[in-house]
Amino acid sequence: MAHVNLDRRVKPTVIVAESPEAFSRVAADVITRQIGIRSDSVLALPTGATPLSLYAELARRCSENLVSFAELHSFNLDEYVGLDPEHHNSYHAYMMEHFFSKVDIDMSNVQIPNGMAPNREAECARYEREIGAVGGLDLAIIGLGANAHMGFNEPGTPFDSRTHVAELASETSDANSRYFAGMQQMPRHAITMGIGTILEARRILLMAMGITKAEAVRASLEGRVTPHVPASVLQTHPHLTVVLDRDAASRLTVSPR
Ligand code: F6R
Repeated sequence: MAHVNLDRRVKPTVIVAESPEAFSRVAADVITRQIGIRSDSVLALPTGATPLSLYAELARRCSENLVSFAELHSFNLDEYVGLDPEHHNSYHAYMMEHFFSKVDIDMSNVQIPNGMAPNREAECARYEREIGAVGGLDLAIIGLGANAHMGFNEPGTPFDSRTHVAELASETSDANSRYFAGMQQMPRHAITMGIGTILEARRILLMAMGITKAEAVRASLEGRVTPHVPASVLQTHPHLTVVLDRDAASRLTVSPR
């Protein structure tokens, strides 16, 4: 936990969206603003259900020439171990389907961990080097697990962890198994950016929607900063924006703006 100052709590900007449209608009505004500041920004990108409407909104803006991703560098947060990029459940396939194929991004600037790498440790080290080579993350966009994981950093992951191979928590396997033909098909491991990697991003956008995330949102934003609640470490980040829907925000005691 070397570089995490637990005493330093910073008030995040918390936005509660009143509709699904507002949710994707507000989240897309954060990204569009970042690209407006620097067209060659470096983003960390999530998969899952939460960012689907965000990616659709960004694709719409791109098709209307309101934003361009041509110079963007992107690094996905994670990828399952053992899934070929062509596998329909891989995060490669997800990103192609929902975002990369719909925008003007230069695919040579796209990075996703290689879950098929024969030497996983070397792949994790390579990923860290690639992030460093483009100057580090400007904006990390992250979703939240019901157990407050971010990326596949499950409860107990050290705050100073770097990109590593993680074992999925049983609740994560349960939640994600709906996308697979059966539990047997579900990978047990993933390569994920570490918490330390994410924390070094200059800005972080955390998104959560739905009642199943309400307790994780409360614990992450208002609870004790502890590795048992991975996203609680975000309380120490100086530039955190949180976009929630009403359900995900429903257990917050401090009224958001
Ligand atoms: C996915 C990822 C995960 C998800 C989280 C929430 O790349 O990093 O941490 O963001 O599991 O998933 P959804 O949005 O499906 O509820």
